Amino acid sequence: MLQKTSLDGDRVDTSSDGLRVLLEREAVERKVFELAQQISMDFAGQSPVIVGILTGAAQFLIDLLRAMPDEFTRDVEYDFVNLNSYTGTRSSRRPIISSSFGVDITGRDVLLVDGIVDTGHTIAETTALVWEHGPASVKTCIFLNKPVRRQVEVPLDYVGFSIEDVFVVGYGMDFDQRYRALPYIGVIEN
Ligand code: IMP
Ligand code: MG
Repeated sequence: MLQKTSLDGDRVDTSSDGLRVLLEREAVERKVFELAQQISMDFAGQSPVIVGILTGAAQFLIDLLRAMPDEFTRDVEYDFVNLNSYTGTRSSRRPIISSSFGVDITGRDVLLVDGIVDTGHTIAETTALVWEHGPASVKTCIFLNKPVRRQVEVPLDYVGFSIEDVFVVGYGMDFDQRYRALPYIGVIEN
């Protein structure tokens, strides 16, 4: 069994579960802080709508908001979209938005947030769907990028870390719904 993080937060024994720590909790937190400062500077004077893709973006999006200055977050709105891919057809890569936007994004500056970009299909299709609602601008913020896996080119405006072609879990990323809640990034090793 995976042992829980100790109370002081940084001792994790994952040996028996085959989880190797790729990015420690502290490295994750530092990077989120950096991204939050950069985004709040770049969007200063605007009132962006930050849209997270469920479920993987949830922790990342909330941590970003909490790391931003209050003067900035005061004018931020945020929302989540839930994507379900069609299955069994040739167009199966196209996701559908199953919860509509609670915030009206027409004419707004949108920052689309996701945990990881792998082939690029999810972020490319979601960006296209956001554009259909007539926003003023769309930018993307991704915690982890796997550039070697890319099948469709999509501009990434803010990237936490670029990583090798390994299957990662934690900080929103799951393996069959497991490990999502971990505050660090791990790699499953068999
Ligand atoms: P893409 O559409 O191929 O870019 O993949 C995006 C989605 O695949 C992500 O939102 C994740 O849900 C999932 N995914 C891709 N790589 C990983 C990984 O290494 N660990 C966990 N989930 C992943
Ligand atoms: Mg998944």
